[in-house]
Amino acid sequence: MKFFIDTAKIEHIQEAKDLGILDGVTTNPSLMAKEGITGRQNIYRHYRKICDLVSGDVSAEVISTDYKGMLKEARALSEIAENIVVKIPMIRDGVRAISTLTGMGIKTNCTLVFSAGQALLAAKAGATYVSPFIGRIDDTSWDGMQLISDIFDIFSLQAFETEILAASIRNGLHIVEAAKVGADVVTCPLDAILSLLKHPLTDSGLQKFLEDHQKAQTDALSRS
Ligand code: E4P
Repeated sequence: MKFFIDTAKIEHIQEAKDLGILDGVTTNPSLMAKEGITGRQNIYRHYRKICDLVSGDVSAEVISTDYKGMLKEARALSEIAENIVVKIPMIRDGVRAISTLTGMGIKTNCTLVFSAGQALLAAKAGATYVSPFIGRIDDTSWDGMQLISDIFDIFSLQAFETEILAASIRNGLHIVEAAKVGADVVTCPLDAILSLLKHPLTDSGLQKFLEDHQKAQTDALSRS
């Protein structure tokens, strides 16, 4: 399973890269706005910075919601760097744009997917990735992980090559569960990735190892 980081924050991308586990990046207009990046030139410059930092796929989302507008933006975004994946919303014109962009050899990530039917349509149109939003489904008291599992069953049975990119990940448990039900990729904030490191028995076990080592050194010294 690939690990993507879900942020536009350069410091967080660098930190995940330094950990040696980073396969790619996803962004969205809200994440770009959170970093205070506004205006087309600045936004494109920021994507360039991210693509220089990470060799894996970097999802950059279109703002247009009409077919022609999405194609125009997709062409401009894909010229920023070779590893740009154009993120297209799951709407009627979006499906049409995914189909055209796939024909042009431009990679796409179909975003805002909340049902198996939407995932099926995106895969049929040739999307490289489909992004079901686990956390946002959980927020409505439905089972986000069940959706990943259903999409996995459908894509396996129907031999679709579209990768399942589990998005809207909120914690480490989401990451582990997504891995168990067959997600190809998880995209998560840095704190969710780092939460995987934590276990109290690791901390107490390490403390005991170091204490025992230190005691043995002290005992050996006092015997000599
Ligand atoms: C990623 O591609 C999505 O845009 C992102 O995971 C959404 O996450 P959120 O529901 O935490 O905003």
